[in-house]
Amino acid sequence: HAQPIETDVLIIGAGPAGASLASFLASYGVKGIMVSRDSTSAETPRAHITNMATFECFRDIGLEDILRNVSTPIDETDHLLRWCLSMAGRELARRYTLQTTPQRTGEYKIASPCEHMDLPQTRLEPELVRFATLNGFQVRWGTEFRSMEQSDSRVTVDLFDKVTQQIFSVSAKYVFGADGAGSRVMRHLQVPMEGFPSTQWAVNVFLKADLSHLMKSRPAVLSWVLQPHRDHADFNMVCVVRMVKQWDEWVFSFLPAPGAKEELLSKEQYLEEIQQVIGDDTPVEITHMSRWRINEAYAAHFSVGRVFCLGDAVHRHPPAMGLGSNTSVQDSYNLAWKVAYVLQNKANPRLLDSYSLERQPVGKHMVTRTNQALRRHVPIFELLGLVSPSIPERLEALSLLSANSKTGEQRRTEFQAATDACVETELNGLGIEFNQDYSDSPVICADTSDSAPAKPALEGNPDPIRFHTRTTIPGWRLPHVWLNKAVPEKEISTIDLAGKGKFVLFTGIGGGVWKEAAAKLSTDMNVPIRTISIGFGQDFEDLYGDWARIRGVESSGAVLVRPDNFVAWRHGKADGDETWALEKLSLVMRKVLALD
Ligand code: FDA
Repeated sequence: HAQPIETDVLIIGAGPAGASLASFLASYGVKGIMVSRDSTSAETPRAHITNMATFECFRDIGLEDILRNVSTPIDETDHLLRWCLSMAGRELARRYTLQTTPQRTGEYKIASPCEHMDLPQTRLEPELVRFATLNGFQVRWGTEFRSMEQSDSRVTVDLFDKVTQQIFSVSAKYVFGADGAGSRVMRHLQVPMEGFPSTQWAVNVFLKADLSHLMKSRPAVLSWVLQPHRDHADFNMVCVVRMVKQWDEWVFSFLPAPGAKEELLSKEQYLEEIQQVIGDDTPVEITHMSRWRINEAYAAHFSVGRVFCLGDAVHRHPPAMGLGSNTSVQDSYNLAWKVAYVLQNKANPRLLDSYSLERQPVGKHMVTRTNQALRRHVPIFELLGLVSPSIPERLEALSLLSANSKTGEQRRTEFQAATDACVETELNGLGIEFNQDYSDSPVICADTSDSAPAKPALEGNPDPIRFHTRTTIPGWRLPHVWLNKAVPEKEISTIDLAGKGKFVLFTGIGGGVWKEAAAKLSTDMNVPIRTISIGFGQDFEDLYGDWARIRGVESSGAVLVRPDNFVAWRHGKADGDETWALEKLSLVMRKVLALD
């Protein structure tokens, strides 16, 4: 046996989770190896919606513009969700989604300096892999994880090279399991998966069909095609049609009929069904077919010793709400600075324990809510009679929608409420995107102000799934606010002042002691801490007054932000001298870096 190849980090899997982790680590100068069982990155688009919170992570390492070039801004797509009887047939309802909802555009605008993008995985993954490799990562395709062993100081991993048909070993300080929903790494670690066993499977058929003649007057990125009027031997009455490219590339997701054998049907059977779903004779060319399971499962914990798992390996869920790839990227963003700081001896390795403590609740919440969002469609199926095996009964239920009667009126009200509820949760979840709360983490310091507010962050938020709470309460995401320089320059976001591998301490007029304390501590601890004063005549000016409204401390107070843009600690005002500030900040930094 040859000696194991030595590296600091080994990432298993090169999907959104693994490839973004490699990119974020590479941005810190960390070198390592990433392997993937497949011979290339994603061959089908799958995830499309890349949300603002995720774009903030990419923006931090300078990838935003590169990714924008291969994305379509949501505003430029007809981002509507609709229910219809076929693509060519009658529409039952249509709703705006995300920031295209006129009533909510402003909320999305003030949430972030970034925008939601339609960015298929086929375009995201190659850019991530390119970034990681150009910045020092080695990538090996066709390389499959087999087994691993951990010691106190290293992990030795056996990998199977599909080209040479040989097993070789890699010895790494840290290993990352980003090997997707069927994760072999998770099975090997025997981490229990919680939630519910999967009962439903689905088939994605990717195809080319020019439907522009239909979509001109009824644009939608997502159509729920419901066909109560047909008998369906092998298919359920529901097909979800997702636009891949306007308007000639699509993915049709079929839910097989209850009890159907879990295997793909023939291309001809799908073609026949697709033609019915389209509702006219537009030529169709199937390019790819695949099976997948609708899951509701999350890992009990995300790490074991020196092995950390992320992405679908630890949270498995349906595509509703479009959060899967986004959550995977945010897992890796949470991990990357911690791993880099530990490898660079800036933090105690115990800092890495906070990864699972902070991200597991986020993963669990996402899995639960995306399944709830999917179940919100069931009342619509019921109202349209899809639950009945009899076509006449189903048609009668459908005809009630246009009946001039009290029952008809009631049915219309129920249908309106059911479609509204669906859209609100499924595609208007600005809250679930941003409201992540790490305040219980051992490396977050509670607010130490004398007058620390007892008020919980979400107080006053009528629906934390839909509405974003902008706060600097420790454990919450740094809110975006546009700031200006005294000498006119382009506006800059608080998000741009934070990140880039540094801690940032925001203060204002009267907060000079923090500046001196942070500079001294930064040198003593060998940890980058940048201090930024915001206010009249300061480093940055708050011309819109938004920072003053949102900062949650007095002008001389301090808001300390971690390299991943989460607030680590805050203090109400500068009520002491430089020694006092140094002592305070030093205690905080020791806790935040797990040095105590
Ligand atoms: P992913 O499965 O993408 O990657 C796993 C990687 O591990 C691959 O490189 C694979 O080769 C590798 N691998 C597996 N086993 C291995 C082994 N034994 N050894 C070595 N390598 C191994 N999400 C979203 O945010 N917005 C959206 O709009 C949608 N839409 C959507 C639609 C549909 C139809 C589906 C099925 C899914 C979505 N998603 C989504 C979800 C999204 O696709 C999913 O959450 C991410 O791909 C998860 O990324 P990972 O990197 O964790 O796993």
